[in-house]
Amino acid sequence: MSTNTIWGGRFAAGPSDVMERINASVSFDWRLYAQDIAGSKAHCRMLVDQNIIGAEDGAAIVDGLDRILKQIEAGEFDFKPALEDVHMNVEAALAEAIGEAAGRLHTARSRNDQVATDLRLWIRDAIDGLDGQFRELQRTLLARAETHAATLMPGFTHLQPAQPVTFGHHLLAYVEMFGRDRERLADCRERVNLSPLGAGALAGTAFPIDRDATAAALGFERPMANSLDAVSARDFVLEFLAALAIAATHLSRLAEEIVLWCGPQFGFVTLSDAFSTGSSMMPQKRNPDAAELVRAKTGRILGALTAVAVVVKGLPLAYGKDLQEDKEPTFDAAESLALGLAAMAGMIADMTVDEDGMRAALASGYPTATDLADWLVRELGLPFRQAHEATGRIVALAEEKTCALEDLPLETMQQVESGITEAIYSVLSVDAAAASRTSYGGTAPDNVRQAVAAAKERYL
Ligand code: ARG
Repeated sequence: MSTNTIWGGRFAAGPSDVMERINASVSFDWRLYAQDIAGSKAHCRMLVDQNIIGAEDGAAIVDGLDRILKQIEAGEFDFKPALEDVHMNVEAALAEAIGEAAGRLHTARSRNDQVATDLRLWIRDAIDGLDGQFRELQRTLLARAETHAATLMPGFTHLQPAQPVTFGHHLLAYVEMFGRDRERLADCRERVNLSPLGAGALAGTAFPIDRDATAAALGFERPMANSLDAVSARDFVLEFLAALAIAATHLSRLAEEIVLWCGPQFGFVTLSDAFSTGSSMMPQKRNPDAAELVRAKTGRILGALTAVAVVVKGLPLAYGKDLQEDKEPTFDAAESLALGLAAMAGMIADMTVDEDGMRAALASGYPTATDLADWLVRELGLPFRQAHEATGRIVALAEEKTCALEDLPLETMQQVESGITEAIYSVLSVDAAAASRTSYGGTAPDNVRQAVAAAKERYL
């Protein structure tokens, strides 16, 4: 085995097979090729502008890098594990393409600042892509919320029927969650968008480089202030993964609700064939596998955060090869969330809402009991606690008679609270209950229509 052509000068022999296997990262970090080439071009142009390399060599390098980019994009590039990583694969290809001038590109640069630059650029792109996907999911939810601004369903606490809500209101809750997920990503992006390029291996460089120029060329906010920090910091990865993990928990909650809603016990929605799967044994089955997988992907995304946090923990400054282990979890988490977002947007657009099924579910569980208690407070001046107690006794009577609250005879209610009049029935219907909740952020259909308009304004 021959030594590495890029760093093998002081080596007499090449690595053992197992050394090559544990060391090589190109099987996954090839994904950084576009960012790597963009970073190299910015670095090269700066080297020319600073008279560190000649203009002719610089032009040859940029031209060669452009050709390599096209080759990779056309699927015609052969990434070689013997060349370890994407950086050295590109550099070796450049040498093949343009000869000796290629050797000048790595002046005043190390793979340590190079890889940190590449990964920051990649995460920045990933954030922008995910933000667009979140926006599309919000758009889909908002369209559904608008249609179902007045569609009633039971709202739950403890997964027990609690009070009537509108389906639109329920969907808007997720629009808010995904809005905060987008804010977290945007906030994280600010700290991702800083340039490590020019930090060198760890200590900076004696060449008269211009870090502001490379930072600006790559769209970074500014160069990072400390070279040791620039090459060793991975809190930008942790923040990104933390934001993804939180977003994944939101997606998984919606996914879980879809799983519940699809079941005959709920019967609130149906997914079409496009988003259902069958069972190999039970011919009657329609399973919501996509929702289950979105729910499950939370595990690996949260796992990615744990994995990288443990890699970074206790790592002495500056760069350590440990940091190569930051990439697979990052790529996997970003891809998993992107797929989950696409599947979720697909399911929300696909599902058929069973309004009758939702209304039927409101027949049990006395969801207007709070409205009865509120009426006693409002109309009879009872303290809420006393009204709560009286309502509890009325509910017990309804339970005895196995009827809904609005089907209880007036005299039965009067046995508990003599002041109750016929007017009570006006608040016992589920429609009246939902329509009455007009407080800011409440579920009344008019509120929901306004909230949809406000959310469109804010998010789309
Ligand atoms: N493949 C390496 C990584 O992902 C690139 C940096 C290697 N630096 C080094 N000094 N060996 O971190």
